[in-house]
Amino acid sequence: MKDEIADLRRDYNNNTLQIEEVEALPIPQFSKWFDDAMKGGVLEPNAMILSTVNEQGRPSSRVVLLKGVDEKGFIFYTNYQSRKAQELAGNPMASLLFNWMQQERQIRIEGKVELLEENLSNSYYNKRPLGSRIGAWSSPQSRYIPNRKILEENVKSIEHLFEGNEEISRPPFWGGFRLVPDKMEFWQGRSNRLHDRLMYSLESDGSWRIERIAP
Ligand SMILES: Cc1cc2nc3c(=O)[nH]c(=O)nc-3n(C[C@H](O)[C@H](O)[C@H](O)COP(=O)(O)O)c2cc1C
Repeated sequence: MKDEIADLRRDYNNNTLQIEEVEALPIPQFSKWFDDAMKGGVLEPNAMILSTVNEQGRPSSRVVLLKGVDEKGFIFYTNYQSRKAQELAGNPMASLLFNWMQQERQIRIEGKVELLEENLSNSYYNKRPLGSRIGAWSSPQSRYIPNRKILEENVKSIEHLFEGNEEISRPPFWGGFRLVPDKMEFWQGRSNRLHDRLMYSLESDGSWRIERIAP
């Protein structure tokens, strides 16, 4: 088994990445690659790894779904009492990572996370299927629970609470965050591990610098 892992080997040679060809701004460049991932058969192209760091410097990572990109940054939704939310409250610096192997690509994003505006959280919550809206109320995300039955009981009592109501309001402990990037690295796999890497860095005057990094 160990030998088999060491022998896994694939040469990447589908695409290239050149400074002359990329967008001047990183979010439009992200959107281009995201479209490629959508068209190119990536399962859940909006699944991204969010890494946070607690106040003792201990990092933790998990997958969350990207639910929007605007001119400011990358939007995701979660429980505001979860481990990730608590870590972000203590240290808002975080990173996102996309890995789209069908395109032999990786995007690394770093920046500060802010709370999403309430109106945006509300309108996204209200668009979710009923089961997901109830699910958000029912799960004390990241807490230890003795068994699964507790969740099912929570669902029943939330259903009972909102019985006859057309609207289920967004739980005060659930909503969006936006990661506002100050660094974004685009990685394109190339032959013989001589990959292309381009880093966009935000300058103090608000412009973005683009530089090549050694693989
Ligand atoms: C494909 C996939 C998508 C997920 N999307 C989300 C999401 O959008 N929001 C979320 O809170 N958790 C999502 N999760 C669950 C998280 O990975 C994680 O288990 C949860 O948010 C609790 O993390 P925490 O305890 O570090 O806060 C997703 C997991 C997977 C595998």
